[in-house]
Amino acid sequence: MLVLGIESSCDETAAALVEDGVKVRADSVWSQVAVHREYGGVVPEIASRAHIVNVVPVLEAAFAQAGCTLDDVGGIAVTRGPGLVGALLVGVQAAKAIAFARGLPLVGVNHLEGHLCAVFLEAERVPSFPHLALLVSGGHSEIVVAHDFGKYELLGATRDDAAGEAFDKVGKMLGLGYPAGPVIDKLAQTGDPTAVALPRAMRGRGLDFSFSGMKTAMSTWLQKHGRPEGQALADLCASFQAAVVDQLVSKTMMAIEERRLGQLVLAGGVACNRGLRAALQQKSSERGFELFIPPPKRCTDNATMIACAGSHRLARGERADLTLNATATLPL
Ligand code: KG4
Ligand code: ZN
Repeated sequence: MLVLGIESSCDETAAALVEDGVKVRADSVWSQVAVHREYGGVVPEIASRAHIVNVVPVLEAAFAQAGCTLDDVGGIAVTRGPGLVGALLVGVQAAKAIAFARGLPLVGVNHLEGHLCAVFLEAERVPSFPHLALLVSGGHSEIVVAHDFGKYELLGATRDDAAGEAFDKVGKMLGLGYPAGPVIDKLAQTGDPTAVALPRAMRGRGLDFSFSGMKTAMSTWLQKHGRPEGQALADLCASFQAAVVDQLVSKTMMAIEERRLGQLVLAGGVACNRGLRAALQQKSSERGFELFIPPPKRCTDNATMIACAGSHRLARGERADLTLNATATLPL
């Protein structure tokens, strides 16, 4: 069955067409990054308005890419939360309108479940259930056990900022623009991760994360030393990235040992980070667990992952009606 996925939870307007939950026929993403850059972060009101302008062109682009029409679609999946309510509502309203007009089955999808499903799309090898997942994005940092599609157990989460949020906020302090995660990642490639000693928060204290201490340490360092340039900036970025990666990896290893799971999935926008990918790849070869990481374009927000998660919900007979609504906070 061909499923139309729609995603509008934050600053990407996206539509996708996915066949049988795995084959991507179209992946259309319109990023609002350029619109929000001058404000140094996402402005919710502007995001909602940009989604309204872009949702129809993004849908048209998806159908053009796949070379098909709504006549070929068997169901619709839309992100219903978590995210910015005004932004989510645009996708939800578009999905409800199409479902109603065409008499198509509709399901609401949790954005976080979408991230966890990205690994199943067009992959040579896929994880089996149960497996462990580290989900790190701009809004969330969580360690979960995926027992099945739609069945998740939360083991740990951030107590303050999400990992991506920490990258973006520290990048803002360094004047690196928005979003700063990819910029810090690039600068860190040529930096020395041992140059600046930063605290390793929450060591040994359960499976929760905390990134606010690192942010404060960076701010204190900048007040004392001023903004570095050139190699010193690369060194500072590498040191910050190493501190974040260290915490993410050590907690994930604790979870792997506690739950004795042989497979780990890395998901969410921060899964693009080369330092994190490399550190987990090294642990995977040292400790013998299987590691699954989607390609970078499926780690950041897109609608293929929503269509994939929605396909499984539709196959289980789940249906939403026209009362489907957007929810800002929605646990997995
Ligand atoms: O999953 P995502 O696209 O949106 C949310 O659901 O939040 O994640 C976006 C986050 C941003 O904070 C961005 O800075 C971060 O992912 N990010 C990265 C990298 N690429 C994206 N963080 C570190 N290194 C990267 N290469
Ligand atoms: Zn996301």
